[in-house]
Amino acid sequence: MKKKILITCAFPYANGSIHIGHLLEHIQADILVRYKKMMNYKVWFICADDAHGTAITIKANENNVSEEYLISQVLKEHKKDLFDFDILYNKYYSTHSKENLFFVKKAFNCLKKKRLIKIKTIKQFYDNSKNIFLSDRYVYGSCPFCKSYKEYGDNCSSCGAFYSVTDLIDPISVFSKKKPVLKKTVHLFFNISHFKNILKKWIFSNVFNEKILKKVLEWLKIGLKDWNISRDDPYFGFKIPGFKKKYFYVWLDATIGYISTFKKLSKDLNLNFKEFWCKKSNTKLYHFIGKDIIHFHSIFWPSLLDAMSFRKPTKIYVHGYVKINDKKLSKSKNYIISAKKWLKYFDSDSLRYYYASKISNGIEDVNINAKDFVYKINSGLVNKIVNLGFRNFKLINKYFDGMLAKNLENISEYNNFLLKFKKVNIFFKDLKYKSVIIEILKIADFANYYINNKSPWSFIKKNTNLLYVQKVCSMGINFFKIIMTYMKPILPKLSKKVEFFLNSKLSFESLKSPLLNHKISNIKILYKRVSMKDFNKLLKK
Ligand code: 2FM
Ligand code: ZN
Repeated sequence: MKKKILITCAFPYANGSIHIGHLLEHIQADILVRYKKMMNYKVWFICADDAHGTAITIKANENNVSEEYLISQVLKEHKKDLFDFDILYNKYYSTHSKENLFFVKKAFNCLKKKRLIKIKTIKQFYDNSKNIFLSDRYVYGSCPFCKSYKEYGDNCSSCGAFYSVTDLIDPISVFSKKKPVLKKTVHLFFNISHFKNILKKWIFSNVFNEKILKKVLEWLKIGLKDWNISRDDPYFGFKIPGFKKKYFYVWLDATIGYISTFKKLSKDLNLNFKEFWCKKSNTKLYHFIGKDIIHFHSIFWPSLLDAMSFRKPTKIYVHGYVKINDKKLSKSKNYIISAKKWLKYFDSDSLRYYYASKISNGIEDVNINAKDFVYKINSGLVNKIVNLGFRNFKLINKYFDGMLAKNLENISEYNNFLLKFKKVNIFFKDLKYKSVIIEILKIADFANYYINNKSPWSFIKKNTNLLYVQKVCSMGINFFKIIMTYMKPILPKLSKKVEFFLNSKLSFESLKSPLLNHKISNIKILYKRVSMKDFNKLLKK
């Protein structure tokens, strides 16, 4: 029996809008979700807003609102933006929830019981002008590993390294813009090195691709430092029971959010929570993340799960960063395109198609190039795929009142065409969407060649052999239907339109036999070309 699958994306911070950088991951995961569902797998897809930590407080202060108000507004906005790109979440929740508090406390109790928490007095950055300890994003400096400038807190957005805030080179307080002083404070540490052998075993269970595996192995070799899971007041998050003015570090409750979001879903849908999270779970758990947060997901998260006696992830799919015209997107440098802005100029399917045409299962960065985008949409999607359907639709509607032929000239041609998609299935399974598109375009070339070769329009001109014309165009429409069925996980909006015009659902089951003696609807336009002019407008501030 096919195993049930739970799929997650990394939780976007509730301090800003969804942008096309986020969308790479959500689209990548959503395509797999849709494909697996079409293959009759039982799949649940969840995400949530990451609603705690200093980043949230900074934004709330900027907007002059409370953190609670900010995260409730952002949650609504995020849900809508993701919905507009057809990201099919079964549940989109928040880490600021009662379920999350419950599981964070549960995790904490497990860690305490297993004596995995060490209490240490350490020196932390302190801003004398504000009289506060400076957690994470309240301090910036250069990364101790790659030297990238203006990295905040304890995680480098450039090289993905994880370190102590106090390791930052030339640290500066965001408040005073001066070097903070060091002051003693008590913190709670999670004994990660306890899990070294458990992690070693787990990472060899085919969780990562080879490159990532190498990186994680390196970290394990260097040795695992205790992980500080507490933060000083002021902090927006969950309070640590039994400790005054101490909060759980946002990354602890963010990862636990995977559990609590599913808990909420399981309550809503009456699913068996334990079936998915118990140590011996027979279900699969796939995480999609960016390469900057591998450390959290490969070291801390599985250690936490193990400490809680929960199952570990089956697969962690890691993607690279998004660039536009070779420049890395950056929120702080205002080089970003929000989901909403994209939709002002283009539709969501165009981004889904373009991303699919660029990504494989590796961690290479994805560069959105204006010319390449326009070329791929117009000459690939429109000319090769959409037009194959459109020109046959037109003839069938005009000369045959929308009726497809009663039978095909040669059914084996239809069956042979279907066989061409064998590789496509393998590419989908391996998340090699770029290869999916390349292969489908090749198949579309074949289909277009087939129609051109039979040249049905020449018979129309001569007004002879109309039955033959109907059969050829019906074959063309069936070829188009097969292609669009395979494109359905990538292009949900266009597929819906095609289903409407075909009066037929696009499913793998329905491909077993061709669509014949069947009425299709009239069609004016299926998909619009895109223009360079619009892309330039999109890039303008
Ligand atoms: O890096 C980020 O954007 C985090 N908000 C991702 C959290 S993923 C999970 F742990 F919730
Ligand atoms: Zn770095």
